[in-house]
Amino acid sequence: MNKRILGSLFAAIMILMAHVAKANTTPVVLQKSPNQLCDQASLQRGAKLYVNYCQSCHAMRYVRFKTMAKDLGIVDEKGEVLEEQVKTHLNFISDSIYDSMINSMVPKEAEKWFGIAPPDLTLETRVRGTDWVYTYLKSFYIDPTRPWGVNNTVFPSVAMPHVLLGLQGEQILDPKTHQLTLIKPGSLSTQEYDQVVTDLVNFLDYSAEPIKLKRQKMGIGVMIFLVVFLVFAYLLKREYWKDVH
Ligand code: HEC
Repeated sequence: MNKRILGSLFAAIMILMAHVAKANTTPVVLQKSPNQLCDQASLQRGAKLYVNYCQSCHAMRYVRFKTMAKDLGIVDEKGEVLEEQVKTHLNFISDSIYDSMINSMVPKEAEKWFGIAPPDLTLETRVRGTDWVYTYLKSFYIDPTRPWGVNNTVFPSVAMPHVLLGLQGEQILDPKTHQLTLIKPGSLSTQEYDQVVTDLVNFLDYSAEPIKLKRQKMGIGVMIFLVVFLVFAYLLKREYWKDVH
């Protein structure tokens, strides 16, 4: 057999195996993420949660503080970005709001600590989908055999510690039914925790496709235009057909 054909065959088998492996690692049903991009307060809370709980490990190198603040409505009446607010509540890594949301983690060091460097999350919801990320952040459970004492039903043997454990509390997994049960509550109620996760996913959804926000606003403008246009078109039609009877 020719080398090329053998090569393609090999590639096809690898892709197939990757799919099977992937299917094996996500046996859980994903929950629907209720995040709404048009909810600006939720986006602002999500950004704040992100810089406090996630950015130490995960950069978002394609997002600039200033652009983000503007998109999320952290602006004064004139539409100018409130720089002081951004500095005190969001930008803990640099002095300039023109910087992007990187962090100071050195990938080589991170690999030593976690076995794998925490990935950049700018495009995470495009890669995995919002439902996946939403379910993932709710699916950590206690597992003493893991290095951080936790595992995850959506991402088995995950290398990330459960950084929101203090908020959510401790869950255990029933190996028979695959159900998660909260055995020790955290500082938030289940509903409050769901809101935290929703806000985080919302912010990640924004970062993955900032243009979505503008598109939605534009969409509404276009609809209004079409409705107004319809009225004039109708009046014009009446005018034209008035004498044709
Ligand atoms: C202490 C470091 C650390 C913190 C803090 C942290 N993570 Fe992680 N995260 C990791 C590591 C390491 C991985 C890679 C896990 C793997 O591949 O096994 C990861 C993976 C992920 C993934 C899956 C990436 C993929 O492969 O698709 C998501 C989503 C994620 N983190 C979200 C978050 C969010 C949201 C926060 C904040 C609430 C956060 N992480 C905080 C270390 C961290």
